[in-house]
Amino acid sequence: MSNRQFLHFSALPMSTRMVYTMTLLVLGTGYLFAMLQVFFSHAGLDGNAKNISAEDIRVAYHGSESDTRLETALKGPMADMLPPEERSVIFKWVKDGSTPEGYEQKVKPILESRCLACHDGVANPHLPNLSNFEGISKVVEKDTGATIPTLVRVSHIHLFGITFIFFIVSSIFTHAYMRPLWMKCVIIVLPFLTILTDIFSWYLTKWIPGFAWFIIASGALMGISFTAQWVVSMWQMWFYKLPPEIEGCGGALPVMGRSQD
Ligand code: HEC
Repeated sequence: MSNRQFLHFSALPMSTRMVYTMTLLVLGTGYLFAMLQVFFSHAGLDGNAKNISAEDIRVAYHGSESDTRLETALKGPMADMLPPEERSVIFKWVKDGSTPEGYEQKVKPILESRCLACHDGVANPHLPNLSNFEGISKVVEKDTGATIPTLVRVSHIHLFGITFIFFIVSSIFTHAYMRPLWMKCVIIVLPFLTILTDIFSWYLTKWIPGFAWFIIASGALMGISFTAQWVVSMWQMWFYKLPPEIEGCGGALPVMGRSQD
């Protein structure tokens, strides 16, 4: 069987290793920001803004059993848009049945000063229009979580975008020396597999809230395998010394009648 030219990092030119190192640095930083983004867009959906929990994930995809979209937004991503006293006024109005009278007297002035900069229906036509009673009525209906068009939009962005990132990082990782070989293969396959299970779980969670745990497990496995690829690649690129039998072949695996990687 021929040697299929597995090249260890140490056999690559310095310039190639620089490209790999800088790419890993920037993508690793990107991954951290992606985690922060997940935190900021989900933490607080369940009413507790300090951490991100399974309940946050359930609310994001399945909707809230108790809250309307307006309340979910005001506890989560819109929480900083107004002071807590004004937020309580809006919560009370929703609890009291979101009447037109209450809207005119109490809620409208708050929305006008705090929300219409973005939610006037003109500045960004995709955001709920909160400039009149009809508009606000639509967001005090029961919160049913992310809509299917939103999930479809985010799905295709994630599938295309994240595949690029994993392709780059795992292609770099192929130059690592790791035995047993199946472990290396698992670490390569996992991020791709878990982005699929992650995204399919969004739809399942929209339907059955218990699947929030599948989203969490997928994200955790994705993070672990990404981190493993990153750390092993960086370490072997600059610090690792190959076992002597491979070192002797200049970083290429020796031909020993077994398949190479
Ligand atoms: C600086 C611009 C800005 C301001 C000010 C703002 N919002 Fe938003 N709002 C957004 C954006 C952007 C989104 C969509 C992204 C998101 O959901 O995080 C959004 C989404 C929403 C949603 C929809 C959530 C859903 O279920 O899709 C509601 C409801 C909402 N905002 C209410 C408010 C209220 C009430 C205020 C005032 C207290 C407010 N917003 C102030 C930018 C703003």
